[in-house]
Amino acid sequence: MNILILGSGGREHALAWKIAQSKKLTRLFIAPGNAGTAALGTNLDLPAEDFEAVKQAVLENHIHMVIVGPEAPLVEGIHDFFLDNDDLKEIPVIGPTKAGARLEGSKDFAKLFMLKFNIPTADFRTFLDYTMHEGQKYLATIQPPYVLKADGLAAGKGVLILHDLEEAQQELENMISGKFGAASKKVVVEEFLSGVELSVFVLTDGKGYVVLPEAKDYKRIGEGDTGLNTGGMGAVSPVPFADKTFMEKVEKRIIQPTIEGLISEGIPYRGFIFFGLINVKGDPYVIEYNVRMGDPEAEVVLPRIKSDFVDLLTATAEGTLKEVTLEIDPQTVTTVMLVSGGYPGSYEKNKHISGLEKVDDSIAFHAGTRLAGKEVLTNGGRVIAVSAYGENMRDALSKSYKNAEIIDFEKKNYRKDIGFDL
Ligand code: AMP
Ligand code: GLY
Repeated sequence: MNILILGSGGREHALAWKIAQSKKLTRLFIAPGNAGTAALGTNLDLPAEDFEAVKQAVLENHIHMVIVGPEAPLVEGIHDFFLDNDDLKEIPVIGPTKAGARLEGSKDFAKLFMLKFNIPTADFRTFLDYTMHEGQKYLATIQPPYVLKADGLAAGKGVLILHDLEEAQQELENMISGKFGAASKKVVVEEFLSGVELSVFVLTDGKGYVVLPEAKDYKRIGEGDTGLNTGGMGAVSPVPFADKTFMEKVEKRIIQPTIEGLISEGIPYRGFIFFGLINVKGDPYVIEYNVRMGDPEAEVVLPRIKSDFVDLLTATAEGTLKEVTLEIDPQTVTTVMLVSGGYPGSYEKNKHISGLEKVDDSIAFHAGTRLAGKEVLTNGGRVIAVSAYGENMRDALSKSYKNAEIIDFEKKNYRKDIGFDL
C-alpha cells in the first residue's frame, strides 16, 4: 500500500515512524514533511493546503490512502475535495469532511453540538457584532475569570482568559471588531472551569471507535506552567489520574454521545477526534474538540500503540473498527520539545542541529527541521520532540532529558519540568 501523510511537524513524523513499521506499507510519502520524515519516506515539496497539487501527487505516485495531519486542510474541505473528484473519490482520506471538521473549525458549532447531546462542557453564550453590547452586559453578570474564545481557527491564539471585567468587555469588542480576523467575528463567552487538563484521542469510522492512550501536554513556555501559550512543550502518557473509573466516565459521558451525535446529525466521520478535557473534581468536561491528533501528544501516544497502524487505518477507511481491539504498551512515554530561542515570539531559523546521530534510547521526532544537503537545520519554533519509553515517568523523562542535552543548536530552549504536576 502507498500512503501519503499531509503535514510537516512532529505529529507527522510520529505518524510516519509508526506507519513505516507496518508490513502493509509499500511506499510512504509525506507532503511537505521535514528532515525527520525524509529518512522514512519520500518528502513531496508541496503545501497541504494546495488541493490541486495534492491531487497530482496522489495520482502520480499511485497513493492508496491519505492521512491528514493538521486541521487547516480538513476545515478547508480536503476530504470533500476528494469525494467530489472522480479520480480521487475511491481513495480513502483519514480525517473528517468539512461538516465534521466544524467540531474544531467553529467553537460555537462545537458548543451547540455538546449542548444538544448533553455532553458536559462549560456554560456559554455566543455573541457577534449586533449583540456585542448584550455580551458586555452578560460579562457583568458572571464571575471572573472571563473566558473569551474566537469562534474560528486562530492558530491556537484565539482564547483569552481575563480577570478584569472592563478588560474583558474591551477585548470582547476588539475580538468582534476583528482582533483575530474573520475567526473572531463570533465570540464564545464561557464559564471558567478549574481542574487539570488532559487529552483523550479516538480513531473512529463514524460508528465504531478505538480509544487511544491518553496524554497530558504542557502548553506554556515557562516552567511551572507560566508565560505564553505555545503549541506544546512536552507531553506524558499515560496520565496517572486517568484511571479506569475516570476513563469510563469519559467514554460514557463524552466519547459515546459524541459519536452518536455525529450519526444523529448525519455527519459521516472517518478520522481522529481529540477531546481536550478538564478534570473537575473527578468529572470530565470538554474544553475543546480537535479533529486531528495532538502535537506533541502524538509523539507519546503513537509509540504506545502496539497494533499495526496501517491495519487500524484500513479498518477506519472500511468501516470495520468495531471489530478491532487495540494493543497498548503499558510503558510510560514522555517527550520534551526543543524549541528555538524566542519562541513563541519571534525566533531565528536555519541553525545547524548537531548530535542527532548520538541519540540513544530515545526517538528524536522532528517538529521544525529541514535538510540542506546532508545537514539538518532548524526550520520552526518547535524543532525536535525527544520521546523516550520508561517503566515510569521518572525513568522515561531521564532518557528524554539526557538526549535533550545531546541534541544541540544555537539558542536551544526547553522546559526542564515536564510532568512536574503529576
Ligand atoms: P482551547 O484553545 O479551547 O484549548 O483553549 C486554550 C486553553 O485555555 C485551554 O487549554 C485551557 O487551558 C484554557 N481554557 C479554555 N477554556 C477554558 C475554560 N472554560 N475554563 C478554564 N480554562 C479554559
Ligand atoms: N497540543 C495541543 C494541540 O495539538 O492542539
